[in-house]
Amino acid sequence: MAVLLLFSLPLIAVLLYNLSFRLRYRIPPGPRPWPVVGNLYDVKPVRFRCYAEWARSYGPILSVWFGSTLNVIVSNTELAKEVLKEKDGQLADRHRSRSAVKLSRDGQDLIWADYGPHYVKVRKVCTVVLFSPKRLESLRPIREDEIAVMLESIFQDSAAASGKPVVIKKYLASMAFHNITRLVFGKRFVDAQGAVDKQGQEFKAIAINGLKLGASLAMAEHIPWLRWMFPLDEDAFTQHGVRMERLTRDIMHEHTLARHKTGGAKNHFFDALLTLKDEYDLSEDTIIALLWDMIAAGMDTPAISVEWAMAELVRNPRVQKKAQEELDRVIGHDRVMTELDIPNLPYLQCVVKESLRLHPPTPLMLPHRANSDVKIGGYDIPKGSNVHVNVWAVARDPVVWKDPLEFRPERFVEEDVDIKGHDFRLLPFGAGRRVCPGAQLGLDLSTSMIGHLLHQFEWSPPSGVRAEEIDLRENPGTVTYMKTPVEAVPKPRLPAHLYKRVPVDI
Ligand code: HEM
Repeated sequence: MAVLLLFSLPLIAVLLYNLSFRLRYRIPPGPRPWPVVGNLYDVKPVRFRCYAEWARSYGPILSVWFGSTLNVIVSNTELAKEVLKEKDGQLADRHRSRSAVKLSRDGQDLIWADYGPHYVKVRKVCTVVLFSPKRLESLRPIREDEIAVMLESIFQDSAAASGKPVVIKKYLASMAFHNITRLVFGKRFVDAQGAVDKQGQEFKAIAINGLKLGASLAMAEHIPWLRWMFPLDEDAFTQHGVRMERLTRDIMHEHTLARHKTGGAKNHFFDALLTLKDEYDLSEDTIIALLWDMIAAGMDTPAISVEWAMAELVRNPRVQKKAQEELDRVIGHDRVMTELDIPNLPYLQCVVKESLRLHPPTPLMLPHRANSDVKIGGYDIPKGSNVHVNVWAVARDPVVWKDPLEFRPERFVEEDVDIKGHDFRLLPFGAGRRVCPGAQLGLDLSTSMIGHLLHQFEWSPPSGVRAEEIDLRENPGTVTYMKTPVEAVPKPRLPAHLYKRVPVDI
């Protein structure tokens, strides 16, 4: 009898807790959670599509349980506004998984920091120092140089195998890597033969290992009392931290030597942070964490958005042609595009917006955590819950978008819709306190890449593939890569000498 009672006690405690929770809170509707695991096994891998499907049955605000953690997903414009504007102050913390705790030294960076004095300080450094219009402009030659490398490489490959398709992602990934490392560290990690050098290899290995560690925890992450069965590999995290720090300190050392030699600082993020270290009271740990945040958040997102745009442009030759006509009219055939042309290319800007509307690289943004009990849409959201805005679903809502599934950039000619967090119908960069600080940089870079790709090449589907057969499915994950990397045949449109890169060293 005593043994039976002993085993029943935890169960009774759980049932009582659930009952009191239900009496206290009126949470949003959602699929019925299973004991212990909640809805962990009901959620399909491409989460934002699954949530959008559920929203059709349960409504635009729904509850999804990951073990004992409540996730609330909102899927329409009004609720997005409530989360990111009206209740922003109560919903600006972050949920940190055990790996995020380790990787960010419990939120001593920017991405994983809760909203508080540390966050406000580092965010200010980002806005005032790193992403100021002046700094972004001074770093423009790096972006344009890396785009030139990409175009030269596509040109050479297309000349070597004329009429053959190329995998666009291959060029975008290389561009993204060199661009972000130069922007952040001021260094192009290549050897004398033009291949990625040893430091660059280490850099890539660290980035890949970070992703692996972040994804390694699975179920036990959401069920705290099961964690003893899935202990964290402390050693792996410690080693990762040591590698990251060693590489960053080596580069820091090189910078210090270079500064002594030349007597001046450069404009990239690393030098900027070192110069302003005392003024903003930044520890070396914080500087290192900030630099790696920029890599994590800013390397792949612009490249992903360009890959999706190119897939749509190959599927929609009418739009491709119209954008090329504008590029030819504004730039001509005697030079290549620069970012300074962007204000004169309104249709190209609409193409970028339309692509980000249909294919936001982070469709559920990053989760926000409630720092107190809060009401959304009339429901109770208890402190500690995670709130996600399904920006993918919001941007395809037929209530606010006409023919939402159609790729039609003209919709933004007819109505100018802000894309940087002021219009809650279109939120690829989020909105409010945690809006993406790199939004302008991301937009400039994506627009410039798409503009160059269209001005310098005509793109068509591989032979035997019809445009409408191009696969537009997504890979699962926080950031949405294409499931099948798009392939297309590039045909040069400009004189050959315009594909030659003239290296820039800044
Ligand atoms: C097309 C490109 C990009 C898109 C679509 C994008 C989108 C986003 C989104 C949706 C968030 C989360 C907002 C939230 O939690 O409410 C975010 C956060 C962030 N992004 Fe971006 N981003 C892009 C490019 C960049 C670039 C180029 C950088 C830096 C070099 C960057 C740095 C960051 C950082 C540091 C955060 C965390 C902000 C915080 O937690 O306060 N992003 N981004």
